[in-house]
Amino acid sequence: MDNRYFNPEFETMTRPQIERLQLERLQATVRHCMNSPFYKRRFAENGISPDDIKSLDDLKKIPFTTKADLRETYPFGIASVPLEKCVRLHSSSGTTGNPTVILHTQKDLDQWANAVARCLWMVGLRPGDVFQNSSGYGMFTGGLGFQYGAERLGMLTVPAAAGNTLRQLKFIKDFGTTALHAIPSYASRLFEVMQQEGIDPRRDTKLRTLVIGAEPHSEETRRRIEDMLGVKAYNSFGMSEMCGPGVAFECPEQNGLHIWEDYYIVEIVDPETLEPVPDGELGELVLTTINREAMPLLRYRTRDLTRILPGECPCGRHHIRLDRMQGRSDDMIILKGVNIFPIQIEKILMQFSELSSDYLITLDTLADNDAMTVDVEMKQMAVDDFRVLANLEKEITRRLHDEILVTPRVRLVSKGTLPQSEGKAVRVKDLRKKF
Ligand code: COA
Ligand code: AMP
Ligand code: ZN
Repeated sequence: MDNRYFNPEFETMTRPQIERLQLERLQATVRHCMNSPFYKRRFAENGISPDDIKSLDDLKKIPFTTKADLRETYPFGIASVPLEKCVRLHSSSGTTGNPTVILHTQKDLDQWANAVARCLWMVGLRPGDVFQNSSGYGMFTGGLGFQYGAERLGMLTVPAAAGNTLRQLKFIKDFGTTALHAIPSYASRLFEVMQQEGIDPRRDTKLRTLVIGAEPHSEETRRRIEDMLGVKAYNSFGMSEMCGPGVAFECPEQNGLHIWEDYYIVEIVDPETLEPVPDGELGELVLTTINREAMPLLRYRTRDLTRILPGECPCGRHHIRLDRMQGRSDDMIILKGVNIFPIQIEKILMQFSELSSDYLITLDTLADNDAMTVDVEMKQMAVDDFRVLANLEKEITRRLHDEILVTPRVRLVSKGTLPQSEGKAVRVKDLRKKF
């Protein structure tokens, strides 16, 4: 058996084999979706039935599913199985009010672990490697997603979780960590602290593989991380709605991310017209899950911008390759691996009667740590009582943290001091260090 593949039967399928399997799985998925109150209604409203899906091209007959649909059916309204069959739920931030909820059966979790194990195996990780995960485990899919995938592969897995950089470094040294999952901005932070502590990653650690993802980053950032830490760094793409990590991943060629087409059908559309873009052009990624039980999603608008890369990959996998993500077609911010919509911040600010409706969110990098500052104009500046102001700032910070899961710095400023651009308020300024 060729040792390059975790799951050779599926990984090395030819294009006709992939497409045959996709049609089979799509038809089964669409039939299964008729158990979902949401999809049943959607199909009826659009006058379509599962029998109309006779070819992969017929997918276009099905309307898109959006984050708004997830919000409106919160929490369980899209599920295609009874809740008793589900064993786990994850969630990601929604635009306002409700987060998105994703349900999993045991079979879904097994398939997900297989996909993550396949990715990690693809970049050369094997039993005997020590895999450390610096993702948050609470609701973030990067925590348990990588945990189960790395265990499925057979690695010793260290669930270090997010934060506490000195402890992360101690684990890396003491446990002989060879592979680390970290978001790109946190990899820089780790290196910064290594330098402060006099740790030379090449001399003092066994690190040789980094898995980086969860936020957009450039090829230059990847190379910089590789140079700093003396590792190979592989781009990992996923999202809660599609289960989490394990959706698309780079192979050793580092020439784009193979998306597993036995799990997903890929479309790239113009985010304005929602029409397919010509092959190879940038557009919004739309994904249909074809290997999910609890909560399949049909034509889900991810809002991530990418393109399909042309040509064959020398690694022997024919699953198409996506270019690294180029950004979003909505205003979602990703800070420290956490997704945040400005409207979530606005909603909290507007609950304070002392505040006006003008605010500015600034994202910056301070000592290799990404940070958010929220400047907000007071209706009336009661500068004479600093204690009242300080308490108010503290309370706003606490409420914002509860909503967005990162801790912003809040500054109360006088009316009329925040910048305007062509009469329109500027809401978000991103000054983060980009390499
Ligand atoms: N991953 C791991 N650790 C992170 C991190 C990240 N993405 N972002 C920041 N940290 C570290 C900081 O370096 C700091 O540790 P240190 O001071 O010992 O170096 C610690 O976490 C707290 O960071 P801070 O910026 O002060 O806190 P915050 O309240 O604003 O953020 C986090 C809280 C870090 C817990 C939150 O941002 C988080 O959970 N991020 C991880 C999200 C994630 O896992 N996403 C992946 C999904 S696949
Ligand atoms: P979540 O649902 O919280 O896991 O967040 C998923 C989102 O994170 C995606 O829709 C992307 O916007 C972003 N993301 C995940 N992986 C990457 C990556 N490798 N590059 C760029 N953005 C990513
Ligand atoms: Zn490849």
